[in-house]
Amino acid sequence: MNPLIRAAVLIAVLFTAGAALTPAGPQAEESGMSLPEPELDGEVSLEAAVAARRSVRSFVDATMSLETLSQLCWAGQGVSDQQRGFRTAPSAGALYPLELYVAAGNVGGIDAGIYRYLPEPHELKRELDGDLREELAGAALGQRWIAEAPVVFVVVGVPERLERRYGPRAERYTILEAGHVGQNIALQAVTRDLGTTMVGAFVDDEVARILDLKSGHQPLYVIPAGEPR
Ligand SMILES: Cc1cc2nc3c(=O)[nH]c(=O)nc-3n(C[C@H](O)[C@H](O)[C@H](O)COP(=O)(O)O)c2cc1C
Repeated sequence: MNPLIRAAVLIAVLFTAGAALTPAGPQAEESGMSLPEPELDGEVSLEAAVAARRSVRSFVDATMSLETLSQLCWAGQGVSDQQRGFRTAPSAGALYPLELYVAAGNVGGIDAGIYRYLPEPHELKRELDGDLREELAGAALGQRWIAEAPVVFVVVGVPERLERRYGPRAERYTILEAGHVGQNIALQAVTRDLGTTMVGAFVDDEVARILDLKSGHQPLYVIPAGEPR
């Protein structure tokens, strides 16, 4: 076979076959608390959202609705193709090496706590009780706005899920994917007149301890979201 064709076939196999093996992603068996259905249409254009997005470092002390939190979770990691289990953010081989955590501090209808988003059933699974935003702000070198935002997302990478297929590139792909998730959340937030900051400056071990992450699960992004002051 022509080497170029062989390479193209190999790439196609490497990047798509994972979907057939894991149609609903790694969390298909879990269950939690149902979230409102995400809206699939909106009034703010993609261009307007891209143009308006800015990092926000001061938030109003206002409750975030569960509908809004649901929408932000969906934008970050929701399932957008039910049949094949594909999500809103692309993933190498559709192997989905990310977990989306939510530190909820001021969300209507749910207690403060650490939740994990389950994409396939579109649910939130409660992992820990209590308002841990202050602790997260401390782990992020005292960036105060993290404690002010009603919700703080933490994108967690599990590169091990990619290692069998992608070997030494697993770490790179996992980090790249976190960027897609962060941008989706940031742009969706703009459509709801909300703001976000992409926070990369934090002590990994501290954030992992606060979220009680398993070994091999790495916090990659901390993303406070709320109404800009
Ligand atoms: C990987 C990454 C890490 C970042 N870490 C932080 C951070 O720890 N704290 C912060 O306030 N902003 C952080 N930012 C936001 C940048 O400072 C911000 O995007 C930049 O100043 C441009 O402003 P804009 O987002 O409003 O366009 C980070 C951005 C990226 C992409």
